[in-house]
Amino acid sequence: MDTAYTVEQLRNAVTDAVRAPSLHNTQPWRFRLRDGGIEVLVDASRRLPATDPSGWGVRIACGAALFNLRLALAVAGTPARVRLRPYPAEPDVVARLVPDVPRRATPAEQSLYAAIPRRFSNRAPFWPDPVPADARWRLAEAARAEQCWLELLIGVSAVNAFAEIARSAHRVLERDPAYRAERADWVRTDAAPDGVPAAAGGPRGEPQDLLPSRGFGGLDRAPGRDFEPEPLVAVLGSAGNTAVDQVVAGQALQRVLLTATDSGLSASMLSQPIEVAGAREQLRLSLGRFGTPQMVLRIGYGQPGSPTPRRHVDEVLDLPVRP
Ligand SMILES: Cc1cc2nc3c(=O)[nH]c(=O)nc-3n(C[C@H](O)[C@H](O)[C@H](O)COP(=O)(O)O)c2cc1C
Repeated sequence: MDTAYTVEQLRNAVTDAVRAPSLHNTQPWRFRLRDGGIEVLVDASRRLPATDPSGWGVRIACGAALFNLRLALAVAGTPARVRLRPYPAEPDVVARLVPDVPRRATPAEQSLYAAIPRRFSNRAPFWPDPVPADARWRLAEAARAEQCWLELLIGVSAVNAFAEIARSAHRVLERDPAYRAERADWVRTDAAPDGVPAAAGGPRGEPQDLLPSRGFGGLDRAPGRDFEPEPLVAVLGSAGNTAVDQVVAGQALQRVLLTATDSGLSASMLSQPIEVAGAREQLRLSLGRFGTPQMVLRIGYGQPGSPTPRRHVDEVLDLPVRP
């Protein structure tokens, strides 16, 4: 077994890691090689202080990037052993990956890996076709495989009860001018390598919408029309809510999203009810599950769209300076 990863292996895997989702596409991560291990670090300069005061969103994003990293290394035949938050004195180091026994990637790893460049947040209305039972089962299984749970809201009353919580959280957030300013700062109308392209933001929200859209989008839509008939809403949760639990949830999120993509499904995220403490507690109680909700997903059959930009790998690597 190799005892160290190389710069080339780091660079290749990070190309996939950065395709992970992040709040407002802030890409709050860095990667480095230290003593032969690949390390994932929080980039605190890219945290959103008004939207994400606790750093929850940063840890979810870094966890999602870590899942892509693990998958990329496994598919290259150099799987990793992972330690989360390995140095108590350095909480910004989210994970350390060292080479494990080399093996061939499984077909399941290969198909999830192939989904990485195809996944994107699809905020446009989904088709009315329901998500079939076997796809639902795969999604829940993806969360379980990463020590999390995925609760699929079944029936109109469960979805309506959730929507009520989500809309009230949305109203709370919208009252904060600093939150609104941060969102406006990260909507892009040029070809920036980060932020949410206005065209990816989805249609403008309307008062009659069941679920609140984050408000990136300004695409016109027919006034007075329902957004979509019956979205599948799923809540992803973890056992606890420590920093490590949030990194675990980020990995589970990415596994669920890639599983959705691999099943021909689209998804978008909806985290207002996670960001407002009271709403998150209401959501937890309404589900009657142990643990903490970490993300809400809207899943269905979507219209075509395209992946959003990312910064170049060289901008997120901390490499030793060569003499
Ligand atoms: C922690 C977290 C919270 C998010 N919350 C929302 C949200 O409430 N609404 C939304 O439309 N997208 C949300 N997103 C999706 C990001 O905006 C999206 O991942 C980012 O813009 C990159 O685009 P992509 O997913 O198409 O790669 C969230 C993503 C993360 C990681």
